[in-house]
Amino acid sequence: MEEFYYVTTPIYYVNDVPHIGHAYTTVAADILARFNRLMGRSVFFLTGTDEHGQKVLKAASDAGITPKDHTDKLCENFKKLWTKLDITNNAFIRTTDAGHKEIVQGLLQRLFDKGEIVKRRYEGWYCTHDERFWTDKDVKDGNCPDCGRAVETIEEENYFFLMSKYHDALVRHIKDNPGYIMPESRKNEVLGFLRSNALGDLCISRPKERLSWGVALPFDTNYVTYVWFDALINYYSATQYLSGDKKDFWPASVHIVGKDILTTHAVFWSAMLMALDMPLPKRLFAHGWWTMEGRKMSKSLGNVVDPFEMIERYGADALRYFIFREVTFGLDGDFSEAALIGRVNKDLANDLGNLVSRSIAMLNKYFNGSVPASDAIETELKDLAEGVVTKLEGHLDNLAFQKALDEIWAVITYLNKYIDTNKPWALAKSSETEGRLKTVMYSLIEGLRFVSLYLYPFMPHSMEKLYGHLMNSDIGDVSLREAAIWGRLEQEGQIQGMEQLFPRIETEAAQPAPKSKKAEVKVENVIDIIDIADFAKVRLKTAKILSAEAVKGSNKLIRLTVDAGEERQVVAGIGKHYTPEELVGKTVVIVANLKPAKLMGVESQGMVLAASTAEGALALITVDKEIPAGALVK
Ligand code: MSP
Repeated sequence: MEEFYYVTTPIYYVNDVPHIGHAYTTVAADILARFNRLMGRSVFFLTGTDEHGQKVLKAASDAGITPKDHTDKLCENFKKLWTKLDITNNAFIRTTDAGHKEIVQGLLQRLFDKGEIVKRRYEGWYCTHDERFWTDKDVKDGNCPDCGRAVETIEEENYFFLMSKYHDALVRHIKDNPGYIMPESRKNEVLGFLRSNALGDLCISRPKERLSWGVALPFDTNYVTYVWFDALINYYSATQYLSGDKKDFWPASVHIVGKDILTTHAVFWSAMLMALDMPLPKRLFAHGWWTMEGRKMSKSLGNVVDPFEMIERYGADALRYFIFREVTFGLDGDFSEAALIGRVNKDLANDLGNLVSRSIAMLNKYFNGSVPASDAIETELKDLAEGVVTKLEGHLDNLAFQKALDEIWAVITYLNKYIDTNKPWALAKSSETEGRLKTVMYSLIEGLRFVSLYLYPFMPHSMEKLYGHLMNSDIGDVSLREAAIWGRLEQEGQIQGMEQLFPRIETEAAQPAPKSKKAEVKVENVIDIIDIADFAKVRLKTAKILSAEAVKGSNKLIRLTVDAGEERQVVAGIGKHYTPEELVGKTVVIVANLKPAKLMGVESQGMVLAASTAEGALALITVDKEIPAGALVK
């Protein structure tokens, strides 16, 4: 029988700028999707954008365009990130899709006809920003408990989903299905919440005169649907109009969500499904939040980690690996570029990259790149390598990505030790040990084949390359159950030398992965001392900005025309901190003897100096009184 696997991410608010939190959930889902495809399951992997509500409407009207045009434009930011991160979602849902809206209306009508939705007069507190109603108990000093803004009293008729009656059934379902909410601590939080709160009914409508950008209620078009009610249904609606011929993906195998939105899923969504007599998803997994070097990420602090920037600097695979290696999925984690570099250098360049290049170099040296027939089977290695697949299956079912990586790394560590103990270079010295050399070299390359298969869901780009190099075939076609059998590596197969999979990142900031916060070495402490002669090589000059304009297609780069004694064009990555208008007229400092370079196709004849912090603050270096343009800075 065909086995189905259906994994989802939350649908992201289309107004948001994609950040590391979005990338985190989506890569988690991608790892699961890729692994399950390798296991031969029919996979449906869904992500998308949440596009209704007041904030979207306001942003669109501020931009002077229709909300639809606005969302058409913004959802591309997410799609672009998923392409860069090698995400293999099968569908991308938008809540403004006609197919989705039709299904939302169908389910609303069904609930209304069943008497699960009723109209009531409502009087209470409302937060316009969050589009939420609050009770007296929630509101503190007249402010919204979520966003802190002032709430207003509202008296109006609205439609309510009779959620309260599902309280007991919900508690029972959570208790009877221990894997329904994970991790355990989050499950207990939800149970605690249900124990101390009588579940209320859920207001699922907003009058159109107050909010027009939403799905109209089918039984009363004076109202639109509450955004969360509309959004949660995406998980089901997509299986009906975005999954091709296969319509049987519901119920989902797992919904991955952040800890902040677990209640809406565990309580609202579960109760909605119960009322619809539909099966509940098999698992809800709530992951933790990333902070940036110890601080909450926020736009105002300017310390939000930009995944595009990380990919640009370190590559998608390194980022994917780091976020799942560094922190247990489910707990909060702290993002630091120094730790990322440490991981790349130690785990990827050293442990894995060197293993690959050494092994292939030896194969080339001793056997001209042709895989020798093995004289004997190394049973310990064979058992270790073959055993990983079952362990991966178990760990990934529990979304224990770190444990899965530990299992794979046990093979890598074994192989590195295997080289050290067997010393192929010594075996190569005498013809008497040629048989043994063959076994060792075969086992090494065969071990690498296992590693490439197991790591492929985590680091698809480089592992596709490695597997292709070893096997001369496409990893995408592999069935893991059949491939994870020792001896499938072809004897006499020809393997060329290979470029470094993960070059070391050479930077002053490159530190070994810190074991604890205390061990983290600050970048300032490792800056090298230079000679005055070194400094004299750098020609710094004052430059007056004559004109400035954003470089097309970039949200960071600004093209400046400056007077630095002579007129030049300089491109500066300061677009997130300065508008072109405010730059004109400033006298800044530039590196005047830097080799010209092209940034996004635009030539830069110099570099503007700015001070910046790890938190993302940035300020230009300017002069503190009038001085002619082109003056030397020393
Ligand atoms: N639109 C709703 C979800 C509806 S699902 C039916 C929403 N969108 S969101 O864009 O605000 O958030 C999406 C996800 O990003 C959430 O799971 C949230 O936990 C996650 N993250 C936001 N900031 C984060 C970090 N700093 N770290 C990790 N994840 C974070 O909520």
